[in-house]
Amino acid sequence: MSTTTLLSLLILLISTTTTTAAAITTLSSDIAALKAIKSSIKPTTIPSYTCLYSWDFTSDPCSPPHVTHFLCGLSCSGNRVTQLTFDPAGYVGTLSPLVSKLTQLITIDLSDNKFSGAIPNSLFFLPNLQTLILGSNSFSGVIPPSISNLRSIQTLDISRNSLSGSLPNTLASLTELTRLDLSFNKLTGPITKLPKNIIQLALKGNSLNGYLQKQSFTELTQLEVVELSENSLTGTIPGWFFLIPSLQQVNLAHNSFTGVEILKPINSNLIAVDLGFNRIVGYPPANFSAYPMLASLTLSYNKFRGRIPWEYSKKTTLNRLFLDGNYLIGLPAKEFFSGKTSISGSFGDNCLKSCPVSSELCLKSQKPWSICQQAYRGKLKPKS
Ligand SMILES: *[C@@H]1O[C@H](CO)[C@@H](O)[C@H](O)[C@H]1NC(C)=O
Repeated sequence: MSTTTLLSLLILLISTTTTTAAAITTLSSDIAALKAIKSSIKPTTIPSYTCLYSWDFTSDPCSPPHVTHFLCGLSCSGNRVTQLTFDPAGYVGTLSPLVSKLTQLITIDLSDNKFSGAIPNSLFFLPNLQTLILGSNSFSGVIPPSISNLRSIQTLDISRNSLSGSLPNTLASLTELTRLDLSFNKLTGPITKLPKNIIQLALKGNSLNGYLQKQSFTELTQLEVVELSENSLTGTIPGWFFLIPSLQQVNLAHNSFTGVEILKPINSNLIAVDLGFNRIVGYPPANFSAYPMLASLTLSYNKFRGRIPWEYSKKTTLNRLFLDGNYLIGLPAKEFFSGKTSISGSFGDNCLKSCPVSSELCLKSQKPWSICQQAYRGKLKPKS
């Protein structure tokens, strides 16, 4: 071999070694953060088949190939960690506040584990975080006002934890947020002003109270799905609520509403409404039939009285209609039973006259005559 060949071979060897080494050394503060995150988790809850088990710091977290070490649970871009996505292995522990040193994080998903304690406040200062999913853990404490520092957040899911206190009034400043799920926590107080680009709102299964206030829902032109069931919301469900321009699905069941006002829309995409299990009094709103796309309407277990609006029977888009558990009277329109429309649902547990037993809609029997007579203060005419 000539000297020149040997020399060029040597140069090649040196250059490849150096470039490889230079490209893949994870930033030391990121490594320190990952170590702190792992050591805040109980070792006995990290069995050998899990992602975290493969986090062996004798090798570099961001260096490929991930054949034996750092198999999963994180992703990098260059020498920075951009994603923490844990497997639902049942990890027990707390989330280290040093997570905030991972300043390039875009995604955190620790769902379906057993993290407890407070969500570290430092987490809410990650400037690039777009997705934060902590659902189905045991995080407790309040949602701090500093959450407004998550400037890039688009998806925020902390459902099924033990968060308490009220919704922070800084929520509205999360202008990139499109999906918010805080269902099944212990949140109290009123619904605060909501971020204006929100598409899906889920606050089901808390103890939220107060009225639906217009100032909370103003400028929400993208809102499609509202899931507020199983809370303690009160008052009359206001007419403007169903006129939110993009609204498609609304669930307000299992609250303490006492009234509902339905206005005719100019245009509406509303498909499904559930107002079941409240204390709503008055007549079933005929104006629901003015919503062109409405396919599913549930008014079950309230205190509705009077007749089933004939408009419901003429509405061809409607294929689910649950009116059971009220004090509705009269003869239901024959269109419901003609077989021309394929409507399913229930008219049972009311005060209806001759609901044909041949129809699935009438499977559940009507209330005893005496109960109905009492509800109408003895003014009902005897059954024919
Ligand atoms: C039905 O809608 C119209 C128009 O929006 C409104 O004026 C009327 O009060 C509504 N009816 C009821 C019973 O709420």
